[in-house]
Amino acid sequence: MTLHDPNASAALLDGIRAFINPAHVRTDADSGLHYGRDWTRMYTPNPLAVVLPETLDQVQQLVRYANEHRLALAPSGGRTGLSGGAVACQGEIVVSMERMNRILDFDPTDRSVTCEAGVVTEVLQNFACDRGLYYPVDFASRGSSQIGGNVATNAGGIKVIRYGLTRDWVTGLKVVTGRGDVLELNRGLIKNASGYDLRHLFIGSEGTLGIIVEATLSLTRPLREPVIMVLGVPDLDSLMSLYHIFRNKLELSAFEFFSELALRHVLAKGLQRPFEAGTPYYALIEFENPDGIHTDTALTLFEHCADQGWLEDGVISQSQAQAQELWRLREDISESIAPYQPYKNDIALRISKVPAFMSEAEALLQREYPDFEVLWYGHIGDGNLHINILKPADLDTAAFAEKCGTVSEHLFTVLQRHGGSISAEHGVGLLKKPYLHYTRDEVEISYLRAIKQAFDPNGIMNPGKIFD
Ligand code: MLT
Ligand code: ZN
Repeated sequence: MTLHDPNASAALLDGIRAFINPAHVRTDADSGLHYGRDWTRMYTPNPLAVVLPETLDQVQQLVRYANEHRLALAPSGGRTGLSGGAVACQGEIVVSMERMNRILDFDPTDRSVTCEAGVVTEVLQNFACDRGLYYPVDFASRGSSQIGGNVATNAGGIKVIRYGLTRDWVTGLKVVTGRGDVLELNRGLIKNASGYDLRHLFIGSEGTLGIIVEATLSLTRPLREPVIMVLGVPDLDSLMSLYHIFRNKLELSAFEFFSELALRHVLAKGLQRPFEAGTPYYALIEFENPDGIHTDTALTLFEHCADQGWLEDGVISQSQAQAQELWRLREDISESIAPYQPYKNDIALRISKVPAFMSEAEALLQREYPDFEVLWYGHIGDGNLHINILKPADLDTAAFAEKCGTVSEHLFTVLQRHGGSISAEHGVGLLKKPYLHYTRDEVEISYLRAIKQAFDPNGIMNPGKIFD
């Protein structure tokens, strides 16, 4: 590789400027910083350049050019990822899809929309809403994340208990493979029994197989008058009891949880407590309640759970505005703790395994991190727990990362015993790569490598992400 030679790099980039508008082939420091990192903030961005293609043809030419010259490409969406999947810290060319942000097609009969990869999640959600429909994959970073990135990480979020993950809404993909071929995968079909479904390989591939250029997504009807309950819970067993009983009696569209310690960070940003007394944990439950038809059921469940000692207090939203305020108690946690440079765990378990894992993990974390603030929150109704370790102000970043890495080994050993996964929705990227073997054994990883080799024989697509 000749990229350490600035003249050689400049000549290679000039070659790209021959087919992409030179104004969109950037090498300035600000662009490098902006496009070279994601929300992980643990890696120093160091891209060779940032390229912003505007057409499928340009993406294809870029991938072919990168193959010819063995240039590493790091596909880039809204860079809201939390595992370093879109980071360019080793001289990669960032391929930002943000200029490919058109909604190309909408079909009310199919209830589907086709858009370019750079469409922001919230733009798509609003587009659906304006047509009386709903794109239900939703999360706090909706205003910045892009559809291509969502597909590349199989994004989940806050409504998975009812609507599933991004994978469940993708009916078609147009991609440029790491070999530079354009593939149209599944073309919006619901049924298609014609062999291997390559669409699903690209979903969750974190940019390692090629570049997602377009996606066709299903839409559904909107939630009817959703209502939020926030319940104060004394312990984790009670939380699981609430989950069972509410889920059996109501069709839930969210079952989230957060700890009092996590709540305090959003309160510090000016939000109000949901009710006066603090409790160790909180459940946030959402369900449709058109014309109040489920209010009695919800209140009966509330009283029953209070009698059992499973909850100490609670609130039910009386308006859409109040529902949104209550959602913020959960959704704003991530942003409110960002200044503490948290080490993020995003683990998945079968729901039945959550209680046993949590009590073992709690003991382990108390033992290993006696001086660190450990926050629990997440999508417990999906078996997805976010365990965030906050960096003490007086500890330097490298020492903190090393300590967290060591504890992760212990934590993932417990997780493995309970059959869980090291990532539920944030992806592997760079951050979780050292731990992939806790979820996938060596034989399985060898199949992943063979798949990568088929799509990207020269290893130019987001090298070093997921596995080496
Ligand atoms: C969330 O559930 O809030 C997001 O996954 C972000 C995070 O884990 O911090
Ligand atoms: Zn999450």
